[in-house]
Amino acid sequence: MGKKRILSGMRPTGPLHIGHVFGALENWRKLQDEYDCFYMVADWHALMSEYKDPSGIKEYSRDNAADWIACGLDPDQSTIFIQSEVPEHTELHVILSAVTPISWLERCPTYKEQLKELAQKEVNNYAFLGYPVLQAADILIYKANAVPVGEDQLPHLELTREICRRFNGLYGEVFPEPQAKLTPTPRILGLDRRKMSKSYGNFIGLSDTPDEIRKKVSGMITDPERIRLSDPGHPDICNVFSYWQLFAPERTDDIARQCREAEIGCTQDKKDLAEAIIAYLEPIQKKRAEILEDGTTLDGILKRGAEKARETALSTMAEVREAIGF
Ligand code: TRP
Repeated sequence: MGKKRILSGMRPTGPLHIGHVFGALENWRKLQDEYDCFYMVADWHALMSEYKDPSGIKEYSRDNAADWIACGLDPDQSTIFIQSEVPEHTELHVILSAVTPISWLERCPTYKEQLKELAQKEVNNYAFLGYPVLQAADILIYKANAVPVGEDQLPHLELTREICRRFNGLYGEVFPEPQAKLTPTPRILGLDRRKMSKSYGNFIGLSDTPDEIRKKVSGMITDPERIRLSDPGHPDICNVFSYWQLFAPERTDDIARQCREAEIGCTQDKKDLAEAIIAYLEPIQKKRAEILEDGTTLDGILKRGAEKARETALSTMAEVREAIGF
């Protein structure tokens, strides 16, 4: 039996930061051996929120894809592509729209949440309501068995499954029902302990320079209960320690002990962490520079990816048309 298939995607709304690495890319990378993986830059999904100024989407699409590969996604093993280069997604979107009741979309928690922020974000558009239908099309068109996502995407996955069952019930079993595959790593907090986000400016970017990283890390809040250098620290409540667990897990036992025994101060600890992050990002930044060096390597990878994705998409669409009798 062949490998099971995975599809996942990310919206290209800005440069990537370390939250993307531990929240998605590390997981995506590890899944490559066991699954037939499709990884997609969801540029149409980005347009839904960025429609007033879509000028960055194209550049971020390439930029994000370069970072994916730099983080270990292997274009020879996985299919890496840009959503809008496979136009069949929109055809399936139209067909799935026909079988999706509006009430399913209106009761989707992510939709209700965003509506509350409507005035600020202006996502009162038709496409935004249908966001999960396009996502369902992304997943079903490749007959994906599993979709690695963070917790915030679970409602969309549930809707995909409902739409899948509805379609299969009406027209016959065309699509396997995709399972959500929750990302195992806990979400990395921002430098200020809020959610790491572009809009809060509390992130470490994948392309940050060593000096930017040193400056950002030096401003991190450590253990609030540790005031003097001689006070014993509490690594369990320290944001800096949680970064150590991700960037250099092999050193955490040592650092936790030194902190608890007040052997190392927070300032030194942060200096050391900054160097560990710099060392972690160095090979990623090097690989990224290599990919972008000649300006055609990345284009070639994305073109091949789109061709491969399209082959599968076209074959599914032939089945879909047959099933509904078109
Ligand atoms: N909605 C996802 C996000 O915001 C991006 C996405 C688009 C996606 N299509 C997908 C994720 C299909 C998984 C599968 O992160």
